[in-house]
Amino acid sequence: MQSMTTSRQLSTRHLLGIKDLNEDDIQLIFETADNFKDVLNRPIKKVPSLRDITIANVFFENSTRTRLSFELAEKRLSADTINFAASSSSVSKGETLIDTVNNILAMKVDMIVMRHPYPGAGIFLSKHVKAQIVNAGDGAHEHPTQALLDAFSIRERYGDVAGKKVAIIGDILHSRVALSNILCLRQLGAEVMVCGPTTLIPKYISSLGVKVEYNLVNALNWCDVANMLRIQLERQDIAYFPSLREYAMLYGLNKQLLDSLDKEITIMHPGPINRGVEITSDVADSHHSIILDQVENGVAVRMAVLYLLAGTRG
Ligand code: CP
Repeated sequence: MQSMTTSRQLSTRHLLGIKDLNEDDIQLIFETADNFKDVLNRPIKKVPSLRDITIANVFFENSTRTRLSFELAEKRLSADTINFAASSSSVSKGETLIDTVNNILAMKVDMIVMRHPYPGAGIFLSKHVKAQIVNAGDGAHEHPTQALLDAFSIRERYGDVAGKKVAIIGDILHSRVALSNILCLRQLGAEVMVCGPTTLIPKYISSLGVKVEYNLVNALNWCDVANMLRIQLERQDIAYFPSLREYAMLYGLNKQLLDSLDKEITIMHPGPINRGVEITSDVADSHHSIILDQVENGVAVRMAVLYLLAGTRG
């Protein structure tokens, strides 16, 4: 890759949600991620593109994939990085979100990658602080980089996202991955279905242009790609189904069910997996699964997002 100079720019200086992106933005992110994926497959997996930038990863909620993936993306771009975990910070002494972030910015930080349990936290922050904000998941609202890496992985598998049938299965109600995936896949011309128990599918969902299905077998027979979501017990204040065992019987994907279909489908999962609940080990680890490809692609996609956002600085 050359110095990655491009005259094309994102239409937004923050990435707060897929709502911020138009189709050209998403295609630009994908083309840039293609280049960065080449870099990541070289012996020296690093470019100097962001060596003048400092990024703070500010996580108020647990994460394995997203936090490590952003940190690695930043390091591969030669950015300076600092990491903040709310659990070991002065937030526990009562400091507000804006004060916390302004103190981080006083140390000459340019960009904030933030995960927060409250929907809209990134939008709020972007209105009150000077830095560029990247949403790494805000409550049950959006997880834009997850949707981008999911769509990028579908594009890698099939050559194009347009016209593909994607079923998002499980806890749609509490899932930021579901909303961001729906918005991203619809922008790119995919057909989208959501499937799960009636209690875990929001009533407004069909207004987003998706099909709704309550029967797992029907959804699997319809789709090219099944994106199996985790039951978000940490966001459930009441019981939405009788037991995890019953959920697994009705909505869990196992090898027997997969083999009974008269076609091959691709299995995705954003992680973390609850093996034996939404997906069995023999499916998660089968050749149908692109779960670890999603994780691999996450680094290239996040490099692309950070690189392109840096290019919108005045
Ligand atoms: N997919 C995802 O957001 O995983 P983490 O919670 O581990 O970051």
